[in-house]
Amino acid sequence: MQEANPDDRVVTVDVYRDNALADQFVAADKYVIVTPMWNLGVPPMMKAYIDAIMAVGKTFRYTEKGPIGLLTNKKAVHIHARGGFYSEPPMKEFDFANRYIESVLRFMGVTEVHSVICEGHEHLPDKADEIFEAAIAKARELARAF
Ligand SMILES: Cc1cc2nc3c(=O)[nH]c(=O)nc-3n(C[C@H](O)[C@H](O)[C@H](O)COP(=O)(O)O)c2cc1C
Repeated sequence: MQEANPDDRVVTVDVYRDNALADQFVAADKYVIVTPMWNLGVPPMMKAYIDAIMAVGKTFRYTEKGPIGLLTNKKAVHIHARGGFYSEPPMKEFDFANRYIESVLRFMGVTEVHSVICEGHEHLPDKADEIFEAAIAKARELARAF
């Protein structure tokens, strides 16, 4: 096994300790989060980003009654592509990507959370164009009021 480069470790620790990404997230009014589904969840880079922005005292805090989000008066949209269908049972329970992103945003206090789901284009390749067009139309409609 290759030894970790000590310089890489320092950079990683600094990103989390300095809360730079959390500060940047707090400063924004609106969030547009775009992810594919990878193996039922989000890509690991997105998970690492969420680990950096979910910072106690920045985006949420603990109270006697449990955690509360600190991001008030913000809105978000998750634009999410996945090759199969997960909007309806029985596959719905396997969606750990859109549900995770929506939950994380709500946990941090964002109450207005939208999703644009582009799904099934690999399951039904003949309908891929139709599926893309429907998702683009939904994104355009949402953008008008976002
Ligand atoms: C590593 C990897 C894992 C994937 N896992 C899933 C999956 O679990 N479910 C699914 O429906 N599609 C899965 N896909 C397909 C992608 O979600 C799909 O191709 C999507 O359109 C990718 O978005 P993009 O074209 O914006 O990159 C996977 C693709 C890759 C590369």
